[in-house]
Amino acid sequence: MKIRHFVLPALAAVLGLASCKKSDDSTINIGEVASLTGGTATFGQSSHNGTQMAVDEINAAGGILGKQIKLITEDDQSKQGEAGTVAKKLISRSKVSALLGEVASGRSLEMAPIAQAAGVPMISPASTNPKVTEAGDHVFRICFIDPFQGTVMSKFALSKGWKKVAILTDSKQDYSVGLTEFFKKHFTANGGTIMAEQSYGSADKDFKAQLTAIKAGAPDAIFASGYYNEVALIAVQARELGITVPLLGGDGWDSPSLVEVGGKAMEGCFFSNHFSNQDTSPAIQSFVKAYEAKHGAKPDAMAALGYDSAKILFDAIKRAGSVEGKALRDAIAATKDFPGITGSITLDEKRNANKPAVILTIKDGKVVYTETIAP
Ligand code: PHE
Repeated sequence: MKIRHFVLPALAAVLGLASCKKSDDSTINIGEVASLTGGTATFGQSSHNGTQMAVDEINAAGGILGKQIKLITEDDQSKQGEAGTVAKKLISRSKVSALLGEVASGRSLEMAPIAQAAGVPMISPASTNPKVTEAGDHVFRICFIDPFQGTVMSKFALSKGWKKVAILTDSKQDYSVGLTEFFKKHFTANGGTIMAEQSYGSADKDFKAQLTAIKAGAPDAIFASGYYNEVALIAVQARELGITVPLLGGDGWDSPSLVEVGGKAMEGCFFSNHFSNQDTSPAIQSFVKAYEAKHGAKPDAMAALGYDSAKILFDAIKRAGSVEGKALRDAIAATKDFPGITGSITLDEKRNANKPAVILTIKDGKVVYTETIAP
């Protein structure tokens, strides 16, 4: 008997059971799912840096509803499967009031039904595949979607007189598959011809067979709808094969690694994005300065979107006066004209944002702003 009296409380203390109480009254717990490691690590690292900056700012200003924000971040290692697992853990163990993330559409598609079923609002900073927010009324995004982004790049190609385009798709990523579909739809409906369509899977390293087939068709440009890590290798191998035409792509190219790995092969290529850190507006430049001071590098679009997603969530918590799921959901849904770093953000009835895109190019080893396209 004596032993049992001693062992049970000791065991409870060791397991930390006392801290598993439903809520810690002094904080509001927010979960973040981010690819801090793995194939698209810069997406998670940048979005986390931006998100953390917004959390630090609000906490320094006294928090919200008299409480500090506690950001609980889980690394999904850029793995399909893992995003859902960590989202469940954040909801059931950490009792988060909302989820921020993911960047990659495929991983957001995994989290969305979990958040919806639990009644926990989720805001993706950057997933552009239309299906993400179709998971239900608790799932939001603060970025534009791929039917717009695909159209932007198709119009851009046509405006340059590039009428014969080859396409390379990452068939393992919902994002890439969707973006290819929307690009193709607009391009072929407006006088363009797709002369070759090739695909690969994330983490592939050799694209020579696909590029050889593409070269045979002599396209004016190549639309590469995947993520930066493979695209940089594709560019290098294309140049090795003597393909000199520009590569075109979407926001998935946005990473410092694109030029680090792709080097000269990326010169003269173009991609659409959510934000340019060269924008001269004072609000953007003060964000760029603060971010650079903290992280020693200029923010990419993911950093700005991570920052905006957290700020929008905090604004909604304030307006709701509560973190109760339904009240918070309603407040996020009512977001209107929010002055974000990535533009003015209003959420429509499908829980998406209508925002302009920028087109960037690579010049002398730097990513350079060229133009802004309104929705
Ligand atoms: N739009 C991409 C996706 O849906 C993610 C992304 C957004 C990547 C912004 C970089 C910058 O998967």
